[in-house]
Amino acid sequence: MNAEAPIGIFDSGIGGLTVAHAINKVLPNEKIIYFGDTQHLPYGNKSIEKIQKYSITIIDFLLKKQCKAIIIACNSASAVAYQKIIKKVENQALIFNVIHPVINYINSQTHIQHVGVIGTNATISSDIYRTHINTLRKDITVSSLATPLLASLIEEDNKILYQKGIVESYLENHKLKNIDSLILGCTHYPLIEKQINHFYDKKVEIISAIKYIGHSVKKMLKQNNLLNQKNTKHKHYFYVSDYTENFQKKTKLFFPKSIILEQENIFS
Ligand code: DGL
Repeated sequence: MNAEAPIGIFDSGIGGLTVAHAINKVLPNEKIIYFGDTQHLPYGNKSIEKIQKYSITIIDFLLKKQCKAIIIACNSASAVAYQKIIKKVENQALIFNVIHPVINYINSQTHIQHVGVIGTNATISSDIYRTHINTLRKDITVSSLATPLLASLIEEDNKILYQKGIVESYLENHKLKNIDSLILGCTHYPLIEKQINHFYDKKVEIISAIKYIGHSVKKMLKQNNLLNQKNTKHKHYFYVSDYTENFQKKTKLFFPKSIILEQENIFS
């Protein structure tokens, strides 16, 4: 592994761009290679086997690009494919998921007593947040709710999301009554964080991996002498399995300059 090698980041679509943006803010010297599997989106409604298969193919692609670290910027893949990915990668790159930074944050907070989790079907059925949180902190109540429509609507920047009260009707669900904090258990959701905050009138703390992931990655790179010390202006590479206009629009929003966006058929 070499300090000037890129950091690989992947998701089913634009959700992981929220993670890539957070990484770029904390680690501006690092070159990013992003893969958005827009051809297979949404991951959250797929079987565990399919999510694992897609993830491993993307991991192969990122390893071929010599990534020194890979971030699984998708909760669904982090929930059901992390162990398989670790086995596959062995010592070829550092691996990060988007669940552990959230668990570590919650474990360090004494004021959290009742946390809600929203995410895709895959993430919520895995029960990964509750399992991890209650292993460390039995005193915290975890209430989970699958919100399967959100990722696809966010991906399409669908106006229905804002007009028809879909977000609000999910959040009104009795399972999320009396929570003091809410985990955004899908990397697409920070894109609607404003709307969620508005619903709770800022009385519920919104917890999302993008607030902590940059620092966890920085710490590990430093410990492994893999921080890129060279302040070169890198071009970041973005690949998609199916080119969509919204992906391009969102990528430009998060990375206004220095991007290259290409369609790459890695699944044939
Ligand atoms: N952004 C992803 C996640 O965090 C995937 C959403 C989807 O494709 O269903 O789960």
